[in-house]
Amino acid sequence: MTTKKKPKVYVTRKLPDAVETRMRELFDAELNIDDRPRTKDELIEAVRSVDVLVPTVTDRIDAEVIDEAGPQMKLIASFSNGTDHIDVEAAARRGITVTNTPNVLTEDTADMTMALILAVPRRLAEGARVLTDNPGEWAGWSPTWMLGRRIHGKRIGIVGMGRIGTAVARRAKAFGLSIHYHNRKRVNPATEDELEATYWDSLDQMLARVDIVSVNCPSTPATYHLISARRLALLQPTSYIVNTARGDVIDETALIKILREGKIAGAGLDVFENEPAVNPKLVKLANEGKVVILPHMSSATLEGRIDMGDKVIINIRTFIDGHRPPNRVLPFR
Ligand code: DGY
Repeated sequence: MTTKKKPKVYVTRKLPDAVETRMRELFDAELNIDDRPRTKDELIEAVRSVDVLVPTVTDRIDAEVIDEAGPQMKLIASFSNGTDHIDVEAAARRGITVTNTPNVLTEDTADMTMALILAVPRRLAEGARVLTDNPGEWAGWSPTWMLGRRIHGKRIGIVGMGRIGTAVARRAKAFGLSIHYHNRKRVNPATEDELEATYWDSLDQMLARVDIVSVNCPSTPATYHLISARRLALLQPTSYIVNTARGDVIDETALIKILREGKIAGAGLDVFENEPAVNPKLVKLANEGKVVILPHMSSATLEGRIDMGDKVIINIRTFIDGHRPPNRVLPFR
């Protein structure tokens, strides 16, 4: 009996044990047990010899890396929903298929978006710090102390009404917010009815009218700084902005400026323009209670990561078996 040769799979970061074990069973998988982020040189060396690369959002798989791929490397099976870290165009030029892990992070990301939507106006992080940073200094309840702003009855404007945007809208509706959204395409009438949602084809007009903005669109060349300085200036001074999508959808420098000038009420950010670096000015604003910042953790649940791993494995197996993988990513037109 001959043993079928297993495909060589290079995994760039530590994955949950259950996923790594299954990968070792199925593939000739090189794991990253120490979870040290791989350098560009290491990525280049890997793509020269492996059959499949499994990167995550922390790896830059640009044209330089892709152009070094050996002729045997035909699949980049990303352990991620977003694919802005991969030059999908360059991969297509080299005949390399790219896949991602959509759907499985929707509910987790929407939960954390909702947590930020609550945390900023209701001063959750500030309140939590009162009891941990200066225990014993709390003088007790007072009618005018730690007042935030009410969520119920306000308007939320969702930028990007895909799977995550829609899941955020469902939660927001349950919290008594009225739903407004901007999207390239209008969602289907049944979803609009269910959410009692108002569609704005003009992003500018929506931004000027809502109390909370939630950024839920992917990072693409078209959404780079979509929330620009000019658009940020349209927001009401009492409004809040939350971003759990990608840092570069908002012009972060402009956001810091308007927060500092008090031209909006606050922000909740899980993502940043230059991750893992976080602008110290944002950290300062967080310490002053004007923003809540989280370290890109809105999709971070064990269940979600295992589901992502399952998707990666299915994509690899389907591809190796000669079929079109279920989560193929095409270049932007
Ligand atoms: C993804 O997979 O794109 C997420 O941003 C990870 O949280």
